[in-house]
Amino acid sequence: MAGAAGYGARAGYHRPGPRTHFRLRFLMAAPSFETIVNLARKRGFVFRASEIYGGLRSAYDYGPLGVALLRNVKSAWWRSMVQLRDDVVGLDSAIIQAPQVWEASGHVGQFNDPLVECGNCHARHRFDRLEDPDRCPTCGARGTFTDARDFNLMFRTHMGPVASDSNLVYLRPETAQGIFTNFENVRRVARLKLPFGIAQLGKSFRNEITPGQFVFRTREFEQMEMEFFTHRDDADDWYRYWVEERYQWYLDLGMNPDNIKLRSHTEDELAHYAVATQDVEYRFPWGWDELEGIANRTDFDLRQHSQASGKDLRYFDQAAGERFFPYVIEPAAGATRAAFAFLIDAYHQETVRDAPRTVLRLDSRLAPIKVAVLPLSKKPDLVEVTDRVAEALRPRWDIEVDVTQAIGRRYRRQDEIGTPYCVTVDFDTLDDGAVTVRDRDTMAQDRIGIGQLCDYLGERLGAG
Ligand code: GAP
Repeated sequence: MAGAAGYGARAGYHRPGPRTHFRLRFLMAAPSFETIVNLARKRGFVFRASEIYGGLRSAYDYGPLGVALLRNVKSAWWRSMVQLRDDVVGLDSAIIQAPQVWEASGHVGQFNDPLVECGNCHARHRFDRLEDPDRCPTCGARGTFTDARDFNLMFRTHMGPVASDSNLVYLRPETAQGIFTNFENVRRVARLKLPFGIAQLGKSFRNEITPGQFVFRTREFEQMEMEFFTHRDDADDWYRYWVEERYQWYLDLGMNPDNIKLRSHTEDELAHYAVATQDVEYRFPWGWDELEGIANRTDFDLRQHSQASGKDLRYFDQAAGERFFPYVIEPAAGATRAAFAFLIDAYHQETVRDAPRTVLRLDSRLAPIKVAVLPLSKKPDLVEVTDRVAEALRPRWDIEVDVTQAIGRRYRRQDEIGTPYCVTVDFDTLDDGAVTVRDRDTMAQDRIGIGQLCDYLGERLGAG
């Protein structure tokens, strides 16, 4: 439909004079949960897993844009936690470890949530998350809950063809333990001296009693964790340092400071291994909730694994002639959860020249597509130039070529998926060898020679 919404045949596109800005009116209301879920589904960020079979509860697949967003979040984390530092190295350990790992770490005994079942409708709930501990949120019945019992969150399976107690194994519920069991291997080969960190990202699995809120809490998810080993005397300083670093990371990637805060755990909230924890919390549509936890894990894990395995995992400080278990400061983030929060935070609705515009103001490092190349028409000579422009950009950035529909609609689609720049090839391009570059946020349009396009975009997007 042309005209009314301001996205008619060429609405939104105009051959720019010097530099053009549109007047924007921002609607600051935070998006509702449904709005974000609808956008994620409509644009193919996230699909329900096994959708053709009716879906599997709280399991999700990431579509083309979702996988790019998630990959960008993980790359940004890796870059800041490993690549740009000289005191942190990487690791990728197995998801299935020896079961003794989880016994020593305390997960077999203590990684439990309190489970209650409603005697009326038989729905199961996590007792500590109930708004009213006496009322079933599924059927509304009162006083029908069974006594709370400990429910272990680890997924179990069996290694090999016969399922028996002797070959019981677990899917890892956190990536951290692979780091502790490799502490000595990594220290030795990387010739590391305290303080140093080992970082790992990858899938973790928890048989959550009440998964929900879309991809916020799922049974299969991705974590980004780093274990920072230090002398116990320095642990408090490093704890404060990592709390601040991790909080800043979200801000540096463009998160609105009003939507993010730190919260210290109370004594009774602390995990079995921690003496102090601060959560980075995000203002989700349902309220403040956890994005990441930064914990002081003391020497709990190395001590436990030393005792259980019989291998001495103490660190030898040559200068001091001292052998000791280092303390560990652990920033533990969720990659899937962070990607979801960045998506929510980036979502804006505006009115532009009396027409609504939805725009994802994602930091360009996180945006799934960095540049869209759009010929004004499907005429072969324009498409030919478009292909040439696309070929020049493709090795450096994730790009998309879109030739369908009116240009205004194509801009709208790119705004909605957060593409920072649209490059339009128009009829004048054939004469002047220049294209129009439109900035997603300001909607300003610049005329740039094709020969200068990579430099122009490189200045704004980084090297690619
Ligand atoms: N190694 C410590 C640890 O795993 P955690 O607070 O249980 O700590 C760290 O988990 C992060 O992993 C959380 O802050 C959250 O972002 C993410 N996470 C945990 N459980 C999750 C779930 N069921 N679904 C999605 N993300 C989850």
